[in-house]
Amino acid sequence: MPFYITTAISYVNGAPHLGHAYEAIATDVIARHMRQRHDEVFFLTGTDEHGEPIADAAHALGITPQELADQHAAQFKAMTAQLNISNDFFIRTTDPEHERCVQEVLQRVHDNGHTYKGVYEGWYCPRCADFKVENEILEGNLCPIHETPLVREQEENWFFRLSSFQQPLEQLFAQRPDFVMPVVRYNEARAFIESGLQDVSLSRARMHWGVTVPWDHGHVFYVWFDALLNYYTALRYARDGEDLTSKFWPATYHVIGKDILKFHTVFWPAMLMAAGIEVPEHVFVHGFLLGSDGRKMSKSLGNVLDPSEVVDRFGTDALRFYLMRDVAFGGDGAVGMSGVTVRYENELANEYGNLASRTLAMLVRYREGTVPAVGTDPVLLAEFAPLPAQVAALLDRAEPSQALELIWQRVRRLNRYVEERAPWQLAREPALADQLDQTLASLHEGVRVVTVLLHPFMPASAERLLGALGADGADGWRYPAAAFAANGSGARVEQQPPLFPKR
Ligand code: MSP
Repeated sequence: MPFYITTAISYVNGAPHLGHAYEAIATDVIARHMRQRHDEVFFLTGTDEHGEPIADAAHALGITPQELADQHAAQFKAMTAQLNISNDFFIRTTDPEHERCVQEVLQRVHDNGHTYKGVYEGWYCPRCADFKVENEILEGNLCPIHETPLVREQEENWFFRLSSFQQPLEQLFAQRPDFVMPVVRYNEARAFIESGLQDVSLSRARMHWGVTVPWDHGHVFYVWFDALLNYYTALRYARDGEDLTSKFWPATYHVIGKDILKFHTVFWPAMLMAAGIEVPEHVFVHGFLLGSDGRKMSKSLGNVLDPSEVVDRFGTDALRFYLMRDVAFGGDGAVGMSGVTVRYENELANEYGNLASRTLAMLVRYREGTVPAVGTDPVLLAEFAPLPAQVAALLDRAEPSQALELIWQRVRRLNRYVEERAPWQLAREPALADQLDQTLASLHEGVRVVTVLLHPFMPASAERLLGALGADGADGWRYPAAAFAANGSGARVEQQPPLFPKR
């Protein structure tokens, strides 16, 4: 079953911060997990480069919007590499192929009769590039997200007849209770629809930094319509001469933050219906990383943490682990360097890293580096047997933090197992050699299984450890390898420096 997963595409009016890193990492964890289970996975990320905030930011710097987009897109690309994100393509909405395809799809929306010309007047947030409706506006006429003043705007626009999708959207939500996850976001989107949909601007006349409306050259498309289409257009040109939509469309999962819920769960399915394109299967919605001031981490609030700072100090896998472990997916979470330090020392170095080192060291010391090919402990076998299916079920419901918690309980279980069995005592009694064999084979198996399941979270460390465990064969990282075997493997292991050395 082909599987297609996307992140939101980031605005290029600023450099990437930890909030962007969080979304990229969460999506990568799910994508990598799905690659363990499916042969065909396509993972898309990229940058959203049109619209007023970018034009304004460029103007303030005295450069062209394209120059600004080029600079920041390069930083976002560098961030994906630094975070070991396994995306199959990086889309930029200034790619000419994207622009052409946007025109083609929206021309279809126009030809199908879902647009009209009119005058729009309303309260507009330039940072969100969004007109706010009455019940969203904060006291004092402020944007609910940026807490900055809204501006009264009036202009001639092309409109998209969103109101005529009231019923189809209600039906979509009634038929597919898992269209939006978690359920609190499903309820929020459904309530928004049920409160009555108004038509929305599809074009801007005063703005030039955007994709030209093909049937009215004085207008560019409103940036959200151009941006949302990236999920579809990318498949049309990501691979030379291939149209991947036939294989990967509709998207399986769009991963987004809660601030852009309305666009992805209301506008986007309506626009696709208007163009006669299938709607995506699920939208996964995460919460916000909060800065030290307890507010959404965002460049405009000036409370951002640079992902590179964390990576330089603790490494990529530690950052990936920390974010997935500390911030329950779907909720908000305050993050900071002190939190990373604690998780790094207590969990990565002392629990997992130490378990790995002890296991390898004992195999080398007591069995010359060969895993005894004997039956594993039936107690551990029973405890580990349900784990892979439980982890898969959680990731299918966009619950990576809960999945990680389940795996971590097994890491802790293995540390207790070492204490219970005290292999160093068994080693002193030649008569207990069988017990030592079983203990070492079971520990090796347990560490191998948790490492396979941790692979999507911490790919580089997992690969290193699987190599040291002698378990890095071609499919050693895939999902079937997460089954706890009833028998030790006879594999050769080798000691290695600590996975997470003291900092
Ligand atoms: N360009 C739009 C998305 C268009 S998708 C067709 C946009 N860009 S953004 O740069 O502001 O945000 C990109 C993603 O990062 C969004 O999903 C957003 O929720 C997420 N995050 C930005 N700041 C965040 C935090 N502080 N915490 C977690 N994620 C946040 O919106």
